Amino acid sequence: MKHKILVTGGLGYIGSHTVVELQSAGYEVIIVDDLSNTRMEVLGKIAQITGTKPHFENFDLVDSELTQKFFDLHPDLSGIIHFAAFKAVGESVENPLKYYRNNIQSLINILENMERLKLSNLVFSSSCTVYGQPDELPVTEQAPRKAALSPYGNTKQISEDIIRDTVVASTIRSISLRYFNPVGAHPSALIGELPLGVPNNLLPFITQTACGIRPQLRVFGSDYNTPDGTAVRDYIHVVDLAQAHLVAVNRLVNNLGKAPYEIFNLGTGNGNSVLEVIQSFEKVSGVKLNYTITDRRPGDVEQVWANTQFANDELGWKAQLSLDEMTLSAWKFQLELNKNNQ
Ligand code: UD1
Repeated sequence: MKHKILVTGGLGYIGSHTVVELQSAGYEVIIVDDLSNTRMEVLGKIAQITGTKPHFENFDLVDSELTQKFFDLHPDLSGIIHFAAFKAVGESVENPLKYYRNNIQSLINILENMERLKLSNLVFSSSCTVYGQPDELPVTEQAPRKAALSPYGNTKQISEDIIRDTVVASTIRSISLRYFNPVGAHPSALIGELPLGVPNNLLPFITQTACGIRPQLRVFGSDYNTPDGTAVRDYIHVVDLAQAHLVAVNRLVNNLGKAPYEIFNLGTGNGNSVLEVIQSFEKVSGVKLNYTITDRRPGDVEQVWANTQFANDELGWKAQLSLDEMTLSAWKFQLELNKNNQ
């Protein structure tokens, strides 16, 4: 019997890459997604890559009745990976209740049903945003969390707290994965980062500018205290990130964890500036990018990159792919999209 894994937000950017890894490793996947920031076509692309179309249900996990009905039909889940959440930092500042309601209520609904049905294994999508601007770099999992800079960031901190407390009071076991900056696309170029509307994140903005969908990229700030003045992040290839989810699921399903609740940084351990990302993109694509330097974006931290020792040692996982492989795969995905839209 195959282990059955629920992947919420499984048609989204990180979710879809993770579903590919899970199916390739022999897991049976059920996706729940409300299509709020993705397209239905992603399901077919996953099937094209893996040869298997995952079971899919379209509903919003904020709806407690629908969520309960779903769990009643699937009481035999071996694990749950909870990706489904809103993630636009700026939008969360303008509409905080939308973020608290969506990101927190869906998590509570899932945990309540896990408790009710005695399901034990939850992998949660957290973020390096919980660190704010850390005092020491690279940042370890033990670094104190700073007051969140946005309601989005706050939902990640609150969610981690809700899971920590629930694990203490139940038989649920959980792993929170704190992502740094996931970028890039699957080597097939069939799935990748495809936000609806104007992208907020750097890489889709770069690739859309390079092919003329956006007129110009704005580099937010060149007066940071960094080597070239632009902000520094730990960019990690989405395929490396997806593989870490597979490792986390294996760890929970096989009861290999050292504690009922564990937290891991997922990054490469390297920091790159916005200008370095642009240079890498221009090199691998051969395209000269139209960009201009503008003011800092409110709420952005200056620099953050991960200490990955704990994930490397405990999970036996290490990011493998370089910045050039990230930017090249993102570009190939964009070119594939353009081909299909002609
Ligand atoms: C942030 C959060 C991350 C969260 C993500 C969700 C931090 C450190 N990171 O990522 O945890 O999951 O939002 O969306 O809080 N940039 C430009 N021009 C652009 C877009 C971005 O210069 O058009 C710059 C940004 O200023 C930043 C870098 O590129 O320095 C990366 O930005 P982005 O891709 O939006 O990710 P973060 O803001 O780092």
